Amino acid sequence: MLIEENASLRRLNTFGIDATARYFARFETAQQLEEILSTQKTSYPLPLTSTLILGGGSNILFTKNFNGLLLKNEITGIVNVGEDNEYVYLRVGGGVNWHQFVLYCIDKGLAGVENLSLIPGCCGASPIQNIGAYGVEIKDLFHELEAFHLEEKTILRFNTNDCAFGYRESVFKNKFKGQFAILSVTYKLRKQPVFHTSYGAIQQELEKAGVTELSIKAISDAVIRIRQSKLPDPAVVGNAGSFFKNPTVSGEKFPELKSKYPNIPGYPQPDGTTKLAAGWLIEQCGWKGFREGDAGVHPLQALVLVNYGNAQGEQIFQLSSRILQSVQEKFGVELEREVNLV
Ligand code: FAD
Ligand code: EPU
Repeated sequence: MLIEENASLRRLNTFGIDATARYFARFETAQQLEEILSTQKTSYPLPLTSTLILGGGSNILFTKNFNGLLLKNEITGIVNVGEDNEYVYLRVGGGVNWHQFVLYCIDKGLAGVENLSLIPGCCGASPIQNIGAYGVEIKDLFHELEAFHLEEKTILRFNTNDCAFGYRESVFKNKFKGQFAILSVTYKLRKQPVFHTSYGAIQQELEKAGVTELSIKAISDAVIRIRQSKLPDPAVVGNAGSFFKNPTVSGEKFPELKSKYPNIPGYPQPDGTTKLAAGWLIEQCGWKGFREGDAGVHPLQALVLVNYGNAQGEQIFQLSSRILQSVQEKFGVELEREVNLV
């Protein structure tokens, strides 16, 4: 197993941050992962807390060089592990590219993932923040996952309840943060589609494309077009998608804000709170299109922080702190970062 020292991470994170990892290795099986961790015990006296699993690097900001062992999950494979009347169950290696998996499902006529087209990253990371877009979240098609406990070196299974999914949340971002490597995820795909077209501009996009007969392919294509028109392509300009989560405010706070800012978007939640659009709040604070050096706020989507080339992770982080502070001062609303900071 090749363990690189002081490996460059520039091509391994979509922000394009030029950081390094003290040690870096790739694993294609659970056994290889175990071997690397055993080598680490004898040859590299790092504390286990400094082991980090990497997928596609599309939701991570390296604020400094990583002084630990970074392990890239490259477990491949999509296996049909069973079916019932409603679903086909596919077990997918943690290193499989998410969008390739979406395309695979669409090709096989399996439904449920189409609204989640073109989200960057790997399947192994999909449960970590319960990826979501256009009215669907991974929890809606999640069946179970297998995860390797980095310290105990055992493999555990997690079902939906065990994962404690929330909006951009799971047990792996909280209680079990940094403790597991997700080896595979089993998704349940519908044999008969249930279309979700009410969210955002999907319906409008379908009409524009002249779609008369709804299909999972038509929805996927519509979502892809919307995303391409709104979000910067990391291959062109470094970014990690939404930098912050959309915040929620109490049932009392929202009317207050609405009377002061009549155009403020608000989405009522089942628990009585209202979700706000962080992009709108940030734009109102004047940040949209802001640039200082190579760190900036995207000119078309204020929720996306960008690296125009040679920004350092720390610069992006400092910018995010200034944005947090100004949103707090203007609206009395606290933003929370979505991106994982290292
Ligand atoms: P990484 O960035 O590599 O890792 C993210 C975190 O998960 C890190 O803490 C890492 O340690 C951990 N991790 C990764 N893999 C494993 C594993 N196998 N086991 C244990 N821990 C692991 N997200 C959405 O939810 N919805 C969107 O619409 C969306 N749009 C995006 C658009 C763009 C342009 C970009 C750049 C990002 C977007 N994202 C979106 C964020 C990102 O794509 C997702 O969070 C994705 O799941 C990250 O996957 P990854 O493999 O790149 O994870
Ligand atoms: N808006 C502005 N100014 C901006 C950006 C947005 O006023 O600069 C307003 C829009 O006009 C709209 C509202 O904010 O009224 C919501 O914007 P949009 O539909 O673009 O979605 P978002 O809330 O910015 C969320 C997710 C995305 C996901 C899309 C589609 C979060 C943090 N972000 O973005 O996820 O793809 O909805 O479902 O929930 C990600 O997590 O990385 C991500 C890209």
